[in-house]
Amino acid sequence: MAEAHPPKTVTVTYEGKTFEMPVLSGTCGPDVVDISQFPKQCGLFTYDPGFVATASCESGITFIDGDEGILLYRGYSIDELAQHSDFMEVAYLLLNGELPSVQQKQEFVHNITIHTLLHDQMRTFFQGFRRDAHPMAIMVGVVGALSAFYHDSLDIHDPKQRELASYRMIAKMPTMAAMAYKYSIGQPFVYPRNNLDYSTNFLNMMFSTPCEDYVVNPIFAKAMDLIFILHADHEQNASTSTVRLAGSSQANPFACIAAGVAALWGPAHGGANEAVLNMLRDIGHKRNIPDAIKRAKNKNDPYRLMGFGHRVYKNYDPRARIMAQACHDVLNVLGKQGDHLLEIAMELEEIALQDPYFIERKLYPNVDFYSGIIFQALGIPTSMFTVIFALARTAGWVAHWKEMIADPMQKIGRPRQLYKGPEKRDYVPIHHRAQKHNKHVASF
Ligand code: ACO
Repeated sequence: MAEAHPPKTVTVTYEGKTFEMPVLSGTCGPDVVDISQFPKQCGLFTYDPGFVATASCESGITFIDGDEGILLYRGYSIDELAQHSDFMEVAYLLLNGELPSVQQKQEFVHNITIHTLLHDQMRTFFQGFRRDAHPMAIMVGVVGALSAFYHDSLDIHDPKQRELASYRMIAKMPTMAAMAYKYSIGQPFVYPRNNLDYSTNFLNMMFSTPCEDYVVNPIFAKAMDLIFILHADHEQNASTSTVRLAGSSQANPFACIAAGVAALWGPAHGGANEAVLNMLRDIGHKRNIPDAIKRAKNKNDPYRLMGFGHRVYKNYDPRARIMAQACHDVLNVLGKQGDHLLEIAMELEEIALQDPYFIERKLYPNVDFYSGIIFQALGIPTSMFTVIFALARTAGWVAHWKEMIADPMQKIGRPRQLYKGPEKRDYVPIHHRAQKHNKHVASF
C-alpha cells in the first residue's frame, strides 16, 4: 500500500498569530494554495492585479504548461488534434470531455448543422449598424441580441436548454460573422448551406454571392478548420474569464458569450493578429526590422512587437509552431512561397529570438504572429481576424460556461480591492467648493 502523505499546507504568520492554509493538487501543473478562508481567519485579503498568481476556478477542460510550451485539450495535445481531428470533433471534445465515436460525431454535427440559420428578423438588426462599423462591434451587439430571439434556451438551470444554447452558439457564430462581413462590404447575406462542413460553409457564406457559382477551395477550408482548432480554447484567458464572470451572476448564455466577444476585441488579446499584420506592413522591408526591435525595447516608447510574448507561455507557443507550418503550406499551395510579409515575419522572429531583451523576458512568438499572414492568403480582410478568433473560441467559452454552471461550488465572482481613494469626508455644498484638480479622473 502506498504511504499516506500528510495534507500539504502553507503557514502564514501575521501579527503574532499563525494560520494554516490547505494546498490543493490538480492532475497536472503547480499546486495551489486555498486562500478562500484567509479573510475569515486573519482578516486579510490577497492582492494580485491581473490575476497573475490566482487560480479562479477548478476546471478539467484545457491545460497549459507555459514553461514547456504544452497545450492539452481534455488531455490531448494540440499537435495531435491539429494533425488528426477536425473542429467539430474538437468542439465535441471540449464540451463533453471525450472524443466522439463515429455515431456521436454524426449526431453532434447534425445538432450543430440544424441550427446554422439565424432568425430572419435578425437581418434587420444588422441594418441598424453603420456600414463602416468594425465587424467586432457588430458581433458584440448581435451575439447579445440572440437572447432576444431564442427564449427557449435561456433557462440556465435546465440542462436541456443549456445544451440547446450551446449548439445554437456554435452553429450561429459563422453565420453572424459572415453576415457582419457581407454587411460591411455591401453584399447580400449568404444563407448557410447545411450540406457543407463547418469551415467550408463559413467560407462559402463569406465569399460566395448569389450571382455566381462559387466553390470553396478545400485547401482553404482545411486551413480555416486548423485555425479554428488552434483557437478553440486556452483555459482561463481574459475573454474566457469574462464569460465565466458574467455567467457567475446567472446571466443568460448569449449575454455571457457577448461579454467574451467584447473582452477578446482588445489588441492585447484577440486583436493582436490584426495588429501583427499592421506592424509587418508598417515595417515594410527587412532592412527596417532593427529599428522595430529597437523601438520595442525602448521603455519610453509604447511600441511592442505584436504577436510576441504571452502571459502564460514563457516558451514557444505550440500553436505558433503549427500556425507557422500551416502558413508555409498554404502559401506553397498558392505559389506564394516568397510572400513579402512572411519573409519579414520570419526574419523578425529570428532576430528577436537572438536578442537578449527577448531572451531574458522569455518573449516568443504567440499564436497570432503567423495567423494574420494565413488569413491574408485566404482573402480574409484584416478587420475579420478577431471575429474568426471569436468564432473559434466560442467552443471553449461555451464549454467553460457549461462547466461553471454545473459546478456545485460555483459562486458569483466578486473580487475585492486595495482601496486608495479618499477616506470618509464631509460633504461640501457646491458654492463652498474650491476649484480642485480632480486627480482621480483621467483627462480626455
Ligand atoms: N514587445 C516588447 N516587449 C514586451 C512585449 C512585446 N511584445 N511583451 C512583453 N514585453 C516586455 C514588457 O515590456 C515587460 O518588460 P519589463 O519587465 O522590462 O517591464 C516584460 O516583457 C513583461 O511584460 P508584461 O506586459 O508584464 O507581460 P504580460 O504577461 O502582462 O503581457 C502580453 C502579456 C499582453 C501578451 C504582452 O506580451 C504583449 O503585449 N504582447 C503583444 C500583444 C500580443 O501579441 N498579444 C497576444 C497575446 S496571445 C492571445 O491573446 C491569443
